[in-house]
Amino acid sequence: MKIAVGSDHGGLELKQALFNMLQQRGLEVEDFGAFTDDSVDYPDFGVKVASAVSKGVVERGILVCGTGIGMSIIANKFSGIRAALVHDEFTAQMSKEHNNANILVMGGRILTVAQGVRLAEIWLDTKFEGGRHQNRLLKIAAAEQAE
Ligand code: RB5
Repeated sequence: MKIAVGSDHGGLELKQALFNMLQQRGLEVEDFGAFTDDSVDYPDFGVKVASAVSKGVVERGILVCGTGIGMSIIANKFSGIRAALVHDEFTAQMSKEHNNANILVMGGRILTVAQGVRLAEIWLDTKFEGGRHQNRLLKIAAAEQAE
């Protein structure tokens, strides 16, 4: 599986740890930056990751900013994107099991690096349940088309 990661300065440390974890799991990882802790604008990096997932260049993405709020707002502007901001093990699991989130979003100023890595592992290891949840995703896709 190909996966893209991106962050602003507020998510840099966690993003770098996620990059290492994903590589250790044998995944092909594309890092869209940021690469320094200089202050940058999160939409610039969110756009790169969300666009890559939306176009099918990569299968999934992970975005990190200070709170995760900005990154989830920008990522969900893109067609076919289901970006989920998660804060704990339960929301990480549900984001995949019920919502089939194709982008995971976290707050680098909210979680420790170890917590963030753990939540990403849960999201990667959880399977989408389908069934009634698939019907709900179809309604989301239909709403996107109707706009
Ligand atoms: C940057 O200071 C901060 O606003 C950003 O990382 C993020 O939290 C935005 O939602």
